[in-house]
Amino acid sequence: MTEEENKHLLFSGMDVVELAERYGTPLYVTDENTLKANIRNYKNTFSSTITDIYYAVKANGNLALLKLLASEGAGADVFSAGELELTKLAGIPAEKILFNGNSKSDDDLKEAVESGVRVSVDSVDELRALSAVANELGREVEIAIRVNPDVSPEVHPKIATGLKESKFGIPFHDVIPVCEEAEKLPNILLAGLHCHIGSQILDITVFGEATEKMMALVGRVYERGMQLKFVDLGGGLGIGYRQAEKATAPTPKDLAEMILPVFEKKMRDLGISLKLVLEPGRSVVGASTILLSRVNAIKRANKNFVAIDAGFNLLIRPVMYDAYHEVVVANKVNEQASELYTVVGNVCESGDIMAKDRMLPKVERGDLVAILDTGAYGFSMSSQYNGRPRCAEVLVCNGKADLIRSRESIEDLIRNQKIPARFI
Ligand code: LLP
Repeated sequence: MTEEENKHLLFSGMDVVELAERYGTPLYVTDENTLKANIRNYKNTFSSTITDIYYAVKANGNLALLKLLASEGAGADVFSAGELELTKLAGIPAEKILFNGNSKSDDDLKEAVESGVRVSVDSVDELRALSAVANELGREVEIAIRVNPDVSPEVHPKIATGLKESKFGIPFHDVIPVCEEAEKLPNILLAGLHCHIGSQILDITVFGEATEKMMALVGRVYERGMQLKFVDLGGGLGIGYRQAEKATAPTPKDLAEMILPVFEKKMRDLGISLKLVLEPGRSVVGASTILLSRVNAIKRANKNFVAIDAGFNLLIRPVMYDAYHEVVVANKVNEQASELYTVVGNVCESGDIMAKDRMLPKVERGDLVAILDTGAYGFSMSSQYNGRPRCAEVLVCNGKADLIRSRESIEDLIRNQKIPARFI
């Protein structure tokens, strides 16, 4: 992904120091070739006759990236009317979109039905509301039942979604009665079963476990005379954030070897043919992007602090999940790591730590830091906390750069605020 030349980090053939000068910092920079290679890796591993890849828009909803993924044939997992609109703008066809979510309003349901996308139903309440909304609109809607399969991946508890304590999905043992109710409700067409067990999963045996459970449910659905079109096993494949993990992190091929035999055997046993849907986010976009940030100060105190111009307003993962991201001093890539530093952001909270205790070359004010593998849940989880406009995003490809999101201005912080007339 990255190369060294002179003293500067190169990213898809671009000198990142020049990028930082041209576009300013902080700056998210995405490598088009990595993104393309990642989605193609999924496409080439999973044959399109069996599998549809629905990219999880929540990981990174930049329109330029969505357009690129759409042109590669990706569908989409969306979690809100906003994400649905983005996918429509990107040209992803309605029949390849699944509207997910555990708390959908009538407006969300209306939007989904009017757009002709499938809905993953997360509760009986939602099922009944969706039937009423579709009825009112005089339309039919295909649904999947979101299943809580009760499997426990070894990931940070905040990103394990398939545990029975999790808020997502219908409890495993209630799924069949809910399918039966769905079959009876007007304007509802039961089409699939859906689960998503968690994110950043490196030990992929849990995907095998989840597939077994989901396919057992498929068997019970067919035993009761109901039929399906697809099974959606969600996303969750982890990536190597630490240098040492890069070579051993699971690949789409490993995932395929884990789930396809189970999926295909059950289809053979039942004499049926279903589509497999996968919803990868992180493993498509995570490694494609770096966050460039300027060093504002070095402080030699209890620790050696490197204070940069990006904080958890732009990258919340280290703070929220104790996530590890490699840090590179982008203008000194040929210098030996010589000192232990803790890289902190510019947010007014002592927890605003981007990287703890890292060996880096001697860092000085004005140096440029690159935080690696920030394409997933980076910009998409950003905020304006502390009155900081969000940063710009740039797409690079073979030595060319395009701005794909402008830097917000102070004006953007104020835009929607209103002062009551009595205060003026
Ligand atoms: N499908 C569903 C229904 C999901 O909820 C998610 C992610 C995905 C697919 C995509 O999962 P992926 O392949 O990206 O693991 N903000 C956290 C991750 C939250 C994941 C939420 N759901 C992080 O930064 O680690």
